[in-house]
Amino acid sequence: VSGDGESHAEFLADFAYLSSIGGLPSGGVDREAATIADAKQRTWLGGWLAARGFDVHVDEVGNQFGLMTFVEGAPYVLTGSHLDSQPTSGRFDGAYGVLASAHAANRVAKGVRSGAINAVFNLAVVNWFNEEGSRFPPSMMGSAVFTGKLSLDTALAVTDARGVSVRRALDEIGYRGDFDGLPVQSYAEIHIEQGKELEQTGHQIGIVTGTWGARKLAVTVRGEQSHTGSTLMADRKDALLGAAHLIAAARALCEEIDGVLHTAVSHLEVYPNSPVVVASEVRSNLDLRSPDPAVLEEAERRMRVTAVRIERDLNVRIDLAKTHSWDRNDYTPAGFALSERASADAGYSHREILTVAGHDSTNLKDLVPTVMLFVPSRDGVSHNEYEYTEDADLLAGLDVMGGVVRQMVSGALQSV
Ligand code: GLV
Ligand code: MN
Ligand code: MN
Repeated sequence: VSGDGESHAEFLADFAYLSSIGGLPSGGVDREAATIADAKQRTWLGGWLAARGFDVHVDEVGNQFGLMTFVEGAPYVLTGSHLDSQPTSGRFDGAYGVLASAHAANRVAKGVRSGAINAVFNLAVVNWFNEEGSRFPPSMMGSAVFTGKLSLDTALAVTDARGVSVRRALDEIGYRGDFDGLPVQSYAEIHIEQGKELEQTGHQIGIVTGTWGARKLAVTVRGEQSHTGSTLMADRKDALLGAAHLIAAARALCEEIDGVLHTAVSHLEVYPNSPVVVASEVRSNLDLRSPDPAVLEEAERRMRVTAVRIERDLNVRIDLAKTHSWDRNDYTPAGFALSERASADAGYSHREILTVAGHDSTNLKDLVPTVMLFVPSRDGVSHNEYEYTEDADLLAGLDVMGGVVRQMVSGALQSV
């Protein structure tokens, strides 16, 4: 089921259309979860799947599925990613994976119908709700609910910056469904790398063997509101200054710690956020990532020590609350061999790689055998309007996904 010219051209045309939904002049997109642009792309995808014979369903947290049943009663090979984006972001993150999965699944379905493929399992495409977690934290929300890591009620109650809940936002766009889910045999996802390794080593396909761990914390710094001019310096309890010290310390920690660590503080809400008032409260975040669980543990410990020092030095209170985390974790080894085969069959070079970012597969792999593939990202640019992957790499990924899904539907990963 490798691609012919026609299916490649169709894929690129579909991707160009999808990218126009919520499209920005830069070529990027702005389609956060449960916005009008998200509704539009969901409706387009649902129509695409339905037109090719998939039964389209939406579950209670807005995950969108297209089911193709070959063997009554058999579980499903599930494949997909997410269509939602960060604000003013790239057009590839997530959306490429959903469309590649849809096209790969359609190829395999054609193969089953023609008798070229003997299906042991059924096949379903998924567009996970709110992978980005930008409008509604945490990230990977739809797949977390699907895998039982987050309760449905908790997810539906999360509110955005304007106080709109997930429940209301999904109702408003007509995408809070009642589909009960499906028995899943295995899962496959493809994504842009969001790093430079494939580009720098000259490989077209990344076979993801494991994921870096992540710890995300909610930070609250509390001080006292006062006059920016008249209050004596010694009397100040400046919450924004406390946050600034914490931000700088998080960055410095990457150089100080023995091991590989990425850190960021990327979100800031300042109260009362007024030019002549020393801030009384800052709400912020802290994102820690490492391939080494011991480094991650040590990073969190040191940030807590730093917070206590800042409290003492600046006369503020700092609260650090863990909101979302995942451990360094490996993907199914049997999936590596399967991916290598699909890659070699399609004639593309491949390399084993770790994922630094989280993906819906990060959740799924803890439930079922999971395959994760990468295609290169130019200069590693991601969560940015100028994210870019060459057409040839998009098509290589599609062809390899076709081979992966074909093998999985034919019974591979059965006894893992
Ligand atoms: C999810 O996309 C993450 O890396 O946090
Ligand atoms: Mn993504
Ligand atoms: Mn993303």
